Amino acid sequence: MKLITALIKPQKLEDVKKALFDAGVHKMTVTSSQGCGQQRGYTETFRGAITQVNLLKKIRLDIAVNEDFVETTIDAVCDGAYTGEIGDGKIFVTELVECVRIRTRERGKEAIG
Ligand SMILES: Nc1ncnc2c1ncn2[C@@H]1O[C@H](COP(=O)(O)OP(=O)(O)OP(=O)(O)O)[C@@H](O)[C@H]1O
Ligand SMILES: [Mg+2]
Repeated sequence: MKLITALIKPQKLEDVKKALFDAGVHKMTVTSSQGCGQQRGYTETFRGAITQVNLLKKIRLDIAVNEDFVETTIDAVCDGAYTGEIGDGKIFVTELVECVRIRTRERGKEAIG
């Protein structure tokens, strides 16, 4: 099992949701977040002296998937979130140790899927 965490531009959320739905990924957690990447939150046109990072609004998606859905999910997020401009976002993939469906106490593969 893997936890796929994606930071995307807020205006691309609907496109990402559609791409995920079309790929058969229907479970997700969506959170508003703030962050910055290698431009430290400033655009390429920024000309002032940078003394600290500038946090930009991003959307965070957390999607727990079984192994056979890892690449499908990554592809769908990339397809939906892509503009080609800086700040398109990032995807982190981490090992997921356990998942428990509280109602049934199912675990692992059954609980995620
Ligand atoms: N190394 C990192 N650790 C934690 N969060 C990150 C990291 N890099 C990016 N992020 C998160 O991802 C968001 C989008 O990052 P962004 O797309 O600007 O990455 P980038 O590496 O600067 O790539 P680009 O050059 O395409 O802009 C950031 O606002 C931040 O929330
Ligand atoms: Mg950036």
